Amino acid sequence: MESLALYIHWPFCLAKCPYCDFNSHVRDTIPQPRFRDALRLELAWEAERIGPRRLTSVFFGGGTPSLMEPETAGLLLADARRYFTADPDLEVTLEANPTSVEAGRLAAFRNAGINRVSLGVQSLRDDALRFLGRQHGADQAVAALELARGLFPRVSFDLIYARPSQNLAAWQAELRQALGLVADHLSLYQLTIEPGTRFDTQHRRGELILPDDDLGAELYEATAEEAQRFGLLGYEVSNYAVPGGESRHNLAYWRYGDYAGIGPGAHGRLRIEGVRLATTRHRAPEPWADLVERHGHGTREQVALSPAEQSREMLLMGLRLTEGIDPAVFAERTGMTLDSAIDQTVLTMALDEGYITRLPHRLAATAAGRLRLDALLAALVL
Ligand SMILES: C[S@@+](CC[C@H](N)C(=O)[O-])C[C@H]1O[C@@H](n2cnc3c(N)ncnc32)[C@H](O)[C@@H]1O
Ligand code: SF4
Repeated sequence: MESLALYIHWPFCLAKCPYCDFNSHVRDTIPQPRFRDALRLELAWEAERIGPRRLTSVFFGGGTPSLMEPETAGLLLADARRYFTADPDLEVTLEANPTSVEAGRLAAFRNAGINRVSLGVQSLRDDALRFLGRQHGADQAVAALELARGLFPRVSFDLIYARPSQNLAAWQAELRQALGLVADHLSLYQLTIEPGTRFDTQHRRGELILPDDDLGAELYEATAEEAQRFGLLGYEVSNYAVPGGESRHNLAYWRYGDYAGIGPGAHGRLRIEGVRLATTRHRAPEPWADLVERHGHGTREQVALSPAEQSREMLLMGLRLTEGIDPAVFAERTGMTLDSAIDQTVLTMALDEGYITRLPHRLAATAAGRLRLDALLAALVL
């Protein structure tokens, strides 16, 4: 039976962070029952057309899904288990923020069936948390992390580095402290300026200056080295895990497996009757809910991807992974050979420069290649 990963989007947050362009919205009161029912309806609609699948992971993302009533997560999980055949070791992740409101509900989420938590710690320094517009302090983040580790078998957390005026020594000290708190997984993101965010405005006015490329590279390399010393391997550009602790859900995306996306703004990639569909839902929460109430789903767009489009997507995803891409799987998934999807002149150069490695069953970006992945992919992918 074909496998399936399920993503469920909760679009609400307590406040909008100045760096974030995720589909997140602030409301005086969150319309909990309405969004619970709409998510369940859209899941039912999607399950009906997908048909039987082996369900490998469920991911509650956001927004801040830890603001969802735990009962809602429990109901959605029970639905998913009814519609699909859940793996015995189904991975069920919840993104959570470390504020006290949400930390207090973690036990209820565990009882609802969540077995992995990804905490948005972002920094272990109070001044950085203020700069990032977060609602929690460093002590609160550490307390939430300890609480989560006591409740869940698998815990990850996120940090944002390469912040303005952060030097190598300061980041190394913060990272070492973080590595001492790791359970099985850690996501380490370099701060990026996303269009339309408050940071974007400040950046364009020259009020916010990011580390230059050289320092960015130095920070990235030091990050991988430190993580490795603590037994964490970088399995994707920004993700580190103990062996076996990798996020199965995110691996499904990067390996270009099938996933369904439920909720406002959620994306999906699904093979139905031999056609690979890209689905997108309406982003604005209330109009999305209106559509679901009227039609059973809030789909904004659904397109069938050509072999060339699938090849492109699979390359952009797969070369983020340390394991790279297996040419046989590539051909099976996209209908094209790996060689026909990449510029052979650029490939020869990238192999010579040591940015790419090629083995019989694997084409992968090296650590040096992953450091300049965007430029590499722009040149390599046809
Ligand atoms: C969907 S968001 C977070 C979910 C949760 N609401 C939170 O804030 O913790 C996933 C992660 O992306 C990262 N992120 C978001 N915007 C970013 C940016 N502009 N630069 C770097 N990392 C970013 C943050 O680490 C964040 O935790
Ligand atoms: S970073 Fe998280 S809490 Fe902040 S606006 Fe984005 S989704 Fe919401």
